[in-house]
Amino acid sequence: MAKGSSGSRWSSLSLVALAAVAILHTGAAAPTAATQPLYGLVARLLPKAYHTAFDFQIVSESAIPPSSPKNIYDVYRVSNVANSTVTEHGGRAPTVLIEGTTLSALGVGLKFYLEQAAQVELTWTGNRFDELPAQPPRVPDLELDSGNVVTTGHVHGSFVPWRYYTNVVTFGYQFAFWDWSRWEKELDWMVLNGINQLPAMVGQEYVQREFFRSLGVKEADFDSFFTGPSYQPWQRMGNMQGSWTYQLTGAGTAADELAYKNRWIDSQWALQQKILARLDGFNITSVLPAFQGFVPRAVKDLFPDAIIRNSSTWSGFPIEHTNVTYVEPTDPLFAKLSIDYIKLQDKLNNGHRSNFYLLDLYNELVPSCLTEECLKAISSAVSKTLQTAHPGSIWVMQGWFLTTAVWNPARAKAYLTGIQEAGGKSFVYDLASDSIPVWSSFEGFYGSDWGWSVISNFGASQGLFGKLTAIKDRPYTAYAQYPNTLRGIGVTTEGINNNEFIYELTLAFPWTNPDQPAINVPKRVEQFIQRRYGPSRATPKVLEAWKLLSQTVWDAPAKTETGSKSYIEKPPALDMVNTGWLGTVFWYNKTTVVHAWDLLAESGIAERNAAHGRALPKAYIFDLVDTTREILLATVFPSVHASLIDAYNRSDVTQIRSAGRQLLEVARDVDRLLASHPLFSFGARVKEARDSANLPVLSTSTSSNNSPSFRNGFQQFLESNVRNLVTWWGPESGPILADYGSKQWGGLISSYYVPRWQLFISQLELAAQEKRPYDATAFAALVAKHETAWQAQRWGDRNGESWVSNGYDSIDIVRSLWVKYAALATKIAATED
Ligand SMILES: *[C@@H]1O[C@H](CO)[C@@H](O)[C@H](O)[C@H]1NC(C)=O
Ligand SMILES: *[C@@H]1O[C@H](CO)[C@@H](O)[C@H](O)[C@H]1NC(C)=O
Ligand SMILES: *[C@@H]1O[C@H](CO)[C@@H](O)[C@H](O)[C@H]1NC(C)=O
Ligand SMILES: *[C@@H]1O[C@H](CO)[C@@H](O)[C@H](O)[C@H]1NC(C)=O
Ligand SMILES: *[C@@H]1O[C@H](CO)[C@@H](O)[C@H](O)[C@H]1NC(C)=O
Ligand SMILES: *[C@@H]1O[C@H](CO)[C@@H](O)[C@H](O)[C@H]1NC(C)=O
Repeated sequence: MAKGSSGSRWSSLSLVALAAVAILHTGAAAPTAATQPLYGLVARLLPKAYHTAFDFQIVSESAIPPSSPKNIYDVYRVSNVANSTVTEHGGRAPTVLIEGTTLSALGVGLKFYLEQAAQVELTWTGNRFDELPAQPPRVPDLELDSGNVVTTGHVHGSFVPWRYYTNVVTFGYQFAFWDWSRWEKELDWMVLNGINQLPAMVGQEYVQREFFRSLGVKEADFDSFFTGPSYQPWQRMGNMQGSWTYQLTGAGTAADELAYKNRWIDSQWALQQKILARLDGFNITSVLPAFQGFVPRAVKDLFPDAIIRNSSTWSGFPIEHTNVTYVEPTDPLFAKLSIDYIKLQDKLNNGHRSNFYLLDLYNELVPSCLTEECLKAISSAVSKTLQTAHPGSIWVMQGWFLTTAVWNPARAKAYLTGIQEAGGKSFVYDLASDSIPVWSSFEGFYGSDWGWSVISNFGASQGLFGKLTAIKDRPYTAYAQYPNTLRGIGVTTEGINNNEFIYELTLAFPWTNPDQPAINVPKRVEQFIQRRYGPSRATPKVLEAWKLLSQTVWDAPAKTETGSKSYIEKPPALDMVNTGWLGTVFWYNKTTVVHAWDLLAESGIAERNAAHGRALPKAYIFDLVDTTREILLATVFPSVHASLIDAYNRSDVTQIRSAGRQLLEVARDVDRLLASHPLFSFGARVKEARDSANLPVLSTSTSSNNSPSFRNGFQQFLESNVRNLVTWWGPESGPILADYGSKQWGGLISSYYVPRWQLFISQLELAAQEKRPYDATAFAALVAKHETAWQAQRWGDRNGESWVSNGYDSIDIVRSLWVKYAALATKIAATED
């Protein structure tokens, strides 16, 4: 059934959708072409008995009275099919009727059914669809507060027209090496979560390359412009350019590397075609890339009369990789290029259309001028250009640029109102409303449409983190202040597979009544865990554990902007205390968190023992690994580090050795645990990258070299991107970004962090033996050697380098670590709180 949707275009489907509405009134209910993609989703995700259980109907707005005057977008109703008057398809009559005014409404209706009738949920880390009842359960009746029971169905609608997902940098941190089957899963997740707007960023370098070629840019000039897969988001935003990771491996030439980048661009474009077709099938609105002005250096010579400048330096990168060249938006050349670019993209996109264009001129960059007149002239020029290129277009931007110090309210107002004054429209994603709400400092973006978002995660970092108290009322406060322009709510996390409840809650906000917000967080946490583990496994102990966690790790104070990192992933030093951005100080009561882990680990182990070989739900296993990781790295490791430094302070060589041994033991223990789980395994990530060498390219591609030597080099290039992003994050170990993308991954800990700590410990030992202070310079030189060598390595070449998993049973390791560390962790926590 999934077949019907691939390759079809929304433009041709909309007539069918209208027809579906007409059919409804006659009472017939065969799946229409418009709803076909939802049947495809059901067939992919749910057991067979459910494939014919649903009758999805697109209905007119008047057919379902909304549940409140505000919840008028994407309204759905979920009810039991009254009797068998419904047309059969696939041999069985559907039992659940899901009606909705849009496809997005139907998707959320399906999620509602799965949650309410069957207590299951699709999350990144797992689902319990294999535990669904053999026969689809009935939709429960709705009990009102008045005691009345409603049997005519559950009606919900959104109070914002847009629910959007993801952050442009997630395409580097998380999605970079995904193939179509992984994308397909994510798109299904989006449908169930009501996402109806997605920045469609994959493969845009293909359009750029064709475009620059048409301008006369030579192939040789592309190498210093295009970057590798992991870094594309920042190259797109004009922060940095070119690539360096492959050179760090010492293999091949710049020409080889350009060939790899070209091949990559071609394969991403083929992937993007599939993504766009599926977006069309699901009626998810794409936000398309626009020409943002950033060009290869050589473009300056092609247009000597135009105003073409170099942008500012970003994150301390060397000039060759930053100060990206751009066409000044007020120059007529910008308009010309912009319009031609969009025309070309339209042509290449082969029928896919959207009114939404992403255009970030100044993300972490300084504009060439800062007067209000000048800023207004820039935004007006861009706005007019977009309208000319595509009448009705909406300029989407990330409000993050306003966090750069040069912006003040007067400048921001001039820039943003310039768009409307030029007859254009804009939509600003307030990228981090949970931690750095820009909307409240800049008057809700001065009349622009905007979206309230939860980022919760920077740099795809790990760790239990959330800001429940801070977020639970804020979308309503924002909406009360800007009811006409707050038009979207989104999840803009930079990395997935963490703290799923936070995102689930965020995506639930739109479906609540903003006039009577009644989100009961403790109750929602309970229900979430019941769906996640299964009601019978959500024992009082388990629920107590999550209650405690939600009051600690998920309740970071307002002033805490980011989660924290473990000492283990930072460069070793005598003093590791860092209260800054992604620092090392934890905000929560460790006694409580250790106690919660104790309850959860004990329950999980008992559950597994009682299950007679039957596996626990995947998300349960994930949580056991994740909480064990947190205890060992956030509580135990720093404490052992303190013992080590204490021994050094006392020049006690024996004690340095023994604390050092213990530190490395904790590191290796946690490494073994993490390497047992695919979502915590470095080998799994390297494999994903190396496998992406096999992504198909379009038949028209010129880069179809399949020789073994090309393939080897290409895979090394892909792997070097993975290695560099999580370590140096740049051509060298710079002061700003080194370890910014660090990861608590099995394999990365043992191969990269452990050797750093070993060097550190031996330097402390030497210092104590020689009765002199620790030599940080000598240490840095040794570490640089280790890190440089590591950049060039190939995973799998060394003993113990496993791929997706090291083959251990994660719960066995959780059990042994729990036995080994529970008492110690409790003791450490008691001394700290
Ligand atoms: C279906 O239900 C309606 C209303 O309850 C009833 O009038 C009708 O006879 C039923 N049809 C069948 C085939 O049972
Ligand atoms: C498709 O999405 C657009 C934009 O959200 C909406 O206006 C339209 O009603 C949707 N149509 C269907 C059938 O979902
Ligand atoms: C931008 O910087 C590069 C590298 O330093 C330099 O060669 C080039 O001339 C500069 N271009 C402009 C337009 O300033
Ligand atoms: C790079 O940007 C910085 C400002 O961040 C500027 O001072 C410098 O002149 C620029 N260099 C070039 C070559 O464009
Ligand atoms: C080690 O000594 C330094 C400098 O005197 C001091 O700041 C630090 O707190 C001491 N650390 C430990 C763990 O004793
Ligand atoms: C931390 O939690 C424990 C146990 O719940 C409690 O006894 C202690 O007072 C708390 N510490 C702080 C600083 O709140």
